[in-house]
Amino acid sequence: MKQSPRQNSSRLTVPVDLGQRSYPIHIQAGLLHDIGDCLQQSGLSGRVVIVTNSIVRQLYGSIVNSSLKRREFRPLFIEVPDGERAKTLGWASKIIDQLVAQRFERSDILLALGGGVVGDIAGFAASMYVRGIPFIQVATTLVAQVDSSVGGKTGVNHRLGKNLIGAFYQPKMVLMDTQTLRTLPKRELVAGLAEVIKYGMIYDRHFFQYLEDHIESILKLETHPIQYLIKRCCEIKADVVAKDERESGLRRILNYGHTIGHALESMSGYRKMIHGEAVGIGMVQEADLAYSLGLCSSKVVTRQREIVQRAGLSWQIPKMKFSELWTAMQHDKKVVNGNIHCVVPKAIGRVSVIPLEQKSVKKWFAQSR
Ligand SMILES: NC(=O)c1ccc[n+]([C@@H]2O[C@H](COP(=O)([O-])OP(=O)(O)OC[C@H]3O[C@@H](n4cnc5c(N)ncnc54)[C@H](O)[C@@H]3O)[C@@H](O)[C@H]2O)c1
Ligand SMILES: [Zn+2]
Repeated sequence: MKQSPRQNSSRLTVPVDLGQRSYPIHIQAGLLHDIGDCLQQSGLSGRVVIVTNSIVRQLYGSIVNSSLKRREFRPLFIEVPDGERAKTLGWASKIIDQLVAQRFERSDILLALGGGVVGDIAGFAASMYVRGIPFIQVATTLVAQVDSSVGGKTGVNHRLGKNLIGAFYQPKMVLMDTQTLRTLPKRELVAGLAEVIKYGMIYDRHFFQYLEDHIESILKLETHPIQYLIKRCCEIKADVVAKDERESGLRRILNYGHTIGHALESMSGYRKMIHGEAVGIGMVQEADLAYSLGLCSSKVVTRQREIVQRAGLSWQIPKMKFSELWTAMQHDKKVVNGNIHCVVPKAIGRVSVIPLEQKSVKKWFAQSR
């Protein structure tokens, strides 16, 4: 695929404040060309293993390779398969085999170049090898730039469930070149927007309003709205993670839209619906559920539905029985002592976490059809 010419903008930096494990997120159009400088400036040197897949390597491998070589780093590529099927213990172990074979040392660097899949598996391998080597995330999808590369969750899937195996492991630095979004399939971009909308709903009504005002420019990937959007999402996630790194309280609000979303995603066998598409529907439905429980106004539901629609996402639950949905919702990781906990909006920018009763959800489901 032809790459668009290098385009620079000013660099935005978001600090993630985690004491000794603090790190910066750098956001800039054209940043891939400066990866070598970024690593050097943060005091890193030596060998760099780049974990990526063939799609991303073909698009961006040579830019990253020459940028690193220019600063005397010695890059080496490891490819994993494209998509979710790479997120297995088997592939994590293959990455580690290569690190052992190359006699990688604790001071060498592991760099993830790709979307959430590559970031999750590479971070997990980095956390395990010699009990942890420096890890850099270079996020190339919208999901990775607003969500997965920030917060230190790494891991792989078990055959009985997604992300069941993993570790909290913070990177040394996260780099985001907004230009990489230009080669991303439209469907992936739109799916990423679901998580963006989520941040507005859970944390920042002004940001939600910004999305309402700029959604068309965002869909066209105009530089300034895109940079601002990524920065704001990273700030919000960084803020939430700094307050609750290990998800014992506040971090749960990031699961807004995900109780119903995960259920729909698992029912579609992780194939028909991609994660963000399921979260888009989940947010509208959870807002509607909150309205039916008397927790928010109808205006909240309307604004939630409209922005989801304008972003190009669906909002309706596919045809199914309540019992099917309820069973799938019970498999969610956020079930505590058998109770389903769900994040519900109280207003735009404000949510709370409530236990769900089967009776009231059933009533809502019957009425909303
Ligand atoms: N760790 C976390 O906190 C966290 C949060 C959210 C999601 N995740 C995980 O992230 C994964 C989903 O991430 P994703 O949506 O980025 O999917 P992905 O990594 O599979 O990327 C989507 C597709 O885009 C391709 N791609 C990547 N960058 C590209 C580019 N610039 N141009 C063209 N194609 C490109 C990929 O090869 C892939 O085919 C899931 O496994 C999910 O569990 C983790
Ligand atoms: Zn999500």
